[in-house]
Amino acid sequence: MKFFIDTANIDQIKEAKDLGILDGVTTNPSLMAKEGITGEKNILDHYVKICELVKSDVSAEVVSTDYKGIIEEGHRLAALHPNIVVKVPMIKDGVKAIKDLSSQNIKTNCTLVFSAGQALLAAKAGATYLSPFIGRVDDTSWDGVQLIQQISHIYSVYGYQTQVLAASIRNPLHIVKCAEVGADVVTCPLSSIMGLLNHPLTDIGLAKFLEDYKKGNA
Ligand code: G3P
Repeated sequence: MKFFIDTANIDQIKEAKDLGILDGVTTNPSLMAKEGITGEKNILDHYVKICELVKSDVSAEVVSTDYKGIIEEGHRLAALHPNIVVKVPMIKDGVKAIKDLSSQNIKTNCTLVFSAGQALLAAKAGATYLSPFIGRVDDTSWDGVQLIQQISHIYSVYGYQTQVLAASIRNPLHIVKCAEVGADVVTCPLSSIMGLLNHPLTDIGLAKFLEDYKKGNA
């Protein structure tokens, strides 16, 4: 399973990269705004900065909602760097645009996905990645991980190449559950990735080993 980090924060991207397990980055307009990055030029420059830092897939989201606008914006984003993946919302014009962009070998990430029906359309259109928002599904008392399982099953039955990228991850358990049901990718806040490290028995065991080492070398 690939690990992406879901942020536009350069320090956090660096920290995940330094851990040696980072396979890519996803962003969205809200994450950009959270870092205070506004205005088209600043946003585009920031994407390039992230691409140069990670040298792997970086999802950059369009803000157009009509077919022509999505295509134009998609081409502008894709031209920034070879690692850009054009992130397109799951709307009618978005599906049409994904079909068009993928037929031109431009990588796409279909975002704001909340159902298996939407996942089918994105796969038919040739999306490279599909982003179901599992935390937001959980927020509505439905089961986000179950949605990942359902979509992964459908994709494997039909051999769709679209990679299931579980998004809106909120905690380390989400990551483990997504791994159990066969997600291809998880995109996570840094805190959820780092949370995977924690186990009290590891801390207790390490403290004991170090204590015994000191005794033996006293
Ligand atoms: O990848 C999508 C993510 O950024 C949304 O997360 O926590 O706002 O649902 P959240």
